[in-house]
Amino acid sequence: MRIGIIGLGHVGLPTAAALASIGHDVAATDVDGEKIALLSDGRVPFYEPGLDELVTEGTAAGRLRFSQDPADVVPGAEVVFICVGTPPTAGGEASLAAMESAGETIARHATGSVVVVEKSTVPAGTAERLRAAIRRYRRDLEVLIVSNPEFLREGRAVEDSLRPDRILVGADAPEALATMRRVYEPLLELGARWIETDLRTAELAKHASNAFLALKISYANALARICELAGADVIDIAEVMGADPRIGPDFLRAGLGYGGFCFPKDLVAFERLADRLGYRFPLLAEIARINDEAIDAAFQKVESVLWNLEGKRVTLLGLAFKPGTDDIRFAPALTLARKLLDGGANVVGTDPQAGVPAKAEVPDLEVVEDPYDALSGAHCAVVCTEWPEYRALDLARVRRTMAFPVMVDARNVFEPMDMAAAGFTHLPTGRRPIEQAGT
Ligand code: UDX
Repeated sequence: MRIGIIGLGHVGLPTAAALASIGHDVAATDVDGEKIALLSDGRVPFYEPGLDELVTEGTAAGRLRFSQDPADVVPGAEVVFICVGTPPTAGGEASLAAMESAGETIARHATGSVVVVEKSTVPAGTAERLRAAIRRYRRDLEVLIVSNPEFLREGRAVEDSLRPDRILVGADAPEALATMRRVYEPLLELGARWIETDLRTAELAKHASNAFLALKISYANALARICELAGADVIDIAEVMGADPRIGPDFLRAGLGYGGFCFPKDLVAFERLADRLGYRFPLLAEIARINDEAIDAAFQKVESVLWNLEGKRVTLLGLAFKPGTDDIRFAPALTLARKLLDGGANVVGTDPQAGVPAKAEVPDLEVVEDPYDALSGAHCAVVCTEWPEYRALDLARVRRTMAFPVMVDARNVFEPMDMAAAGFTHLPTGRRPIEQAGT
C-alpha cells in the first residue's frame, strides 16, 4: 500500500521504517529540513537500537523515502499517518497546533480519498476537530479519520513496532477499519492482537494506559518510602505483589521515578482533559507528586550523607530518562542535577548516549564520557539510570577512585552484599542502607 507519514520523531520514524519493512511503499516528511537531510544521507537523528539498520534496509529496498516537501509524500497515499509532537502548553494541555497543520497539509496535497491516522497521543475528541479542520481547507476531500495510538517504548521502538502486543484501531467508519486491517495484516499474521473500538475510545485508551503504568511506578515509589521508614525491602515486596497475576510484575521498580516525553506530559494532559469533561481526577496529580518526591528522596540522601554540599563533587551515573536511549526530556537525573547545583555541589554526569544533549540542557553540569573518570575524586555517586554498564562496574576500582565511597543507588542496580564487601556506604531505594564507619 502507498503510505504517507507526517512527523519523523521517536514515533514517526520507527513507524515509517516498520511499515516499509512489512512491505508497504512509505514516503515520509517532516518540517525539520536538517532531519530530512540526515535521513536522506542514511543517518538516524537520534539513538534507537536497531533503527538505523531498519531505515537502511527500507531505503535500500526503495520502499522508504524522505522529503521535506509534503507534495512528495501525500499525493497518491491511501493512508497518511500523523506522528507529529503534541508538547504541553503552558497550562499543561497537549498542544494540537502541529496536528492542525498536518491536517492542512493533507487537505492541500491529497489527490483522492484518504484514511488519516492519528498516531500521536492526543486528547479524546481530537479526531472530530481534525476532520473539521481538514474540511475547512478542502470541502470536497473524502477523508476517514482513524485513531491508532502508538504504545512503543523508546529504546525498544523497533521491537515494539514489529512485534506489538496489541494494535488498537478506533474508527467510526467500517471502511476505515478494513483499510487499517490491510495495513497491519503482516503483523496480525505474526500474532499481534487486534482491538477495534470507536474513535473516542481509542483516543482515551492511550491516556488510560499511560496513566495506569505511571500509577504502578508511583505506587512502588511510595512503597519504597514506607520500606525505608519500616526497615523493609521494596524489591521483595514487588516480587510478592508481581506473583499475583491480577497485579503483574512489570512497572513496579522503585527508583528515581519516570521521565521521558510521554508519562509526565500525558498525565497532566489527561488531568486537564478530565477536568474539561467535568470529572475531577486528583489521583493523577498525586501520581505526579509521588514521582517528584522520588527525586527529593535521592537529593536528601546525598545531602544527609555529605552534610554540606558546597565544595563536594557528586557524580551522576546515567543522565537519560531510562537506559537504551539518548533522550533527556523530563529526565529525573537532570532535575536532580539542577537541585544539587543549586545546593552548591559540583555535579559531574556520565552516560553512554546522553552526555551531549544533557550538557546542552544543563550547561553547569560537567559531562565526562568514561564512568571511572567521572567518579574520580567524587564524594558521592548517584545511580540515576540503570544502564547495564553501571551494574558491571569494577567496584574495587570505583572504591579506589572516589574520594568517599558513597553510593546513592537511586535505581537499585547494586546488591547490598557486594557493596558491603567492597567497602561502600550504600544507600539504595526502599531497601536497608549500609553505612561504613568513616564515610
Ligand atoms: C512509555 C510507554 O511505556 C509506551 O507504551 C508509550 O507509548 C510511551 O510511553 P517510554 O516513555 O519510552 O514509553 O518509557 P517506559 O519504558 O515506559 O518507561 C517510562 C519511565 O518509567 C522511564 O523513566 C523508566 O525509567 C520509568 N520506570 C519504568 C520506572 O521508574 N519503574 C518501572 O518499573 C518502569
